[in-house]
Amino acid sequence: FTIINASYAATAVNASQYPEGELAEIAFIGRSNVGKSSLINSLCRHNGLARTSGTPGKTQTINYFKITGKLSDQSRLEFMLVDLPGYGYAKRAQTARATWSKFIEEYWLNSERLKLVCQLIDVRHPPMESDINVYRWLIEHGLNVQVVATKADKITRGRVAQHVQIIKKDIKMPALNPDSQIIAYSAVNGTGRDELLDVIRNILLK
Ligand code: GTP
Ligand code: MG
Repeated sequence: FTIINASYAATAVNASQYPEGELAEIAFIGRSNVGKSSLINSLCRHNGLARTSGTPGKTQTINYFKITGKLSDQSRLEFMLVDLPGYGYAKRAQTARATWSKFIEEYWLNSERLKLVCQLIDVRHPPMESDINVYRWLIEHGLNVQVVATKADKITRGRVAQHVQIIKKDIKMPALNPDSQIIAYSAVNGTGRDELLDVIRNILLK
């Protein structure tokens, strides 16, 4: 499965601005600065498609990118990747609802075409209370969640494996769920890219 085209499609801060059409959506959520926009660019091999920044809080709106993928039988598959604003840095316990703005909650509750939420967690640190609450909220609301541990290039492979286990334990990932593998990802060297593309393809073809 390869991505052969990716282009900016729309920006929204409320439901009336969601793009028209029937394309399935794959959304990316996580704390500010965790690497959501960078991951989209690396998946698409298109730097600058989604705006990135070293300063948290770069993405403030819901941004849609229209993707054309090609399957091994040469057929085409069109879908949307959806970049979302990050949630806060606050250390104290937060409910999921308090971590994101109303328009993000509206997005979760109104996007019938949402097939998968990729929740990004920085592989270097244990999940924060906000990450845990968001993960639970998404699961409770019946969404498909793929956890992605980002910035895997910043620590050794051994530590990546260790930290992935800590993330699994802390978010209480259901062990019996066959889909509950965390993908370690690096937007810098492409670690995890093929694995995540596979997950996306399988969800879209379901
Ligand atoms: P907001 O839009 O502010 O919520 O942030 P974001 O989650 O979209 O993060 P963004 O992609 O803008 O990246 C934040 C910073 O992390 C940038 O300086 C990126 O270059 C860096 N970064 C993102 N992914 C990786 C990665 O895999 N490896 C390394 N080393 N740096 C990364
Ligand atoms: Mg961003």
